[in-house]
Amino acid sequence: MNKKLLIGTGVAFSLLFSPFSQAFAEEPTTGERKQVDNVAHRGAAGYAPENTIAGFDLAVDMKADYIEIDVQRSKDGELVVIHDTTVDRTTDGKGKVGDLTLEQLRSLDAGSWKGEEFAGEPIPTFEEIMDRYHGKVGILIELKAPELYPGIEEQVAEALSERNLDKPQNEKIILQSFNFDSMKKMDELLPQVPVGVLTSNRALTTKAALKEISTYAEWFNPSYGIVTEDVVNEVHSQGMQIGSWTVRSQEAADFLFDMKVDAIITDYPDYVDPRNE
Ligand code: G3P
Ligand code: CA
Repeated sequence: MNKKLLIGTGVAFSLLFSPFSQAFAEEPTTGERKQVDNVAHRGAAGYAPENTIAGFDLAVDMKADYIEIDVQRSKDGELVVIHDTTVDRTTDGKGKVGDLTLEQLRSLDAGSWKGEEFAGEPIPTFEEIMDRYHGKVGILIELKAPELYPGIEEQVAEALSERNLDKPQNEKIILQSFNFDSMKKMDELLPQVPVGVLTSNRALTTKAALKEISTYAEWFNPSYGIVTEDVVNEVHSQGMQIGSWTVRSQEAADFLFDMKVDAIITDYPDYVDPRNE
């Protein structure tokens, strides 16, 4: 049985009996437009400090379907949620994420740069985010620069398995990366969890390239500058879904609605969800 069929069958069967059928039974994100997953990029990053609990809580309040998180690893081997490979831009500290211990990372203020009301927001751990949000909102997990952290795929797989998030009923967990080899590895480690690839490279939108990607990925997630109707149709005909980023204007959101993508990854969830209008 191929992976997509396995996931689909598992989801259908599991939802009949699973408590997740309740957890995910909320009304979908619909207006007069195609239903689309509203993915809060790094939390509601337009309104709150990215990759913090303040931002993720706000995304849930704004009825996002998913939160998107960036996962890296501390010097002492703990998985942490932060976008840049240094702490310089989003905290009051300096240095590479992988050169700082969890204790050093946790002592940093990851909120004040966005506004005084967010002062003291810490860098979350991956496990903290999974425990706080799984079952409440979908989680789009990006492995950020996994080539810097050998073995991070196994570590993420273990953290998901420990929480029973490697099973088909938990389809609202998706893994993605710009590093395609890392996603191939994730697909081998957790064959029932959907994976996606991120790119801004138009050369990867050809039929041949998409066909190859579809051998291990369920999602093709390009920047919106390379999205066309033909690309969306080709992704769909290869059996994948398409999520596009990063929406920071209503015009960009409307463009992606017109393109009929499956997910819109946005700093501003209200541009995507009519219930916030
Ligand atoms: O989810 C898509 C997006 O997060 C990819 O770009 O740089 O924001 O991680 P970046
Ligand atoms: Ca990201």
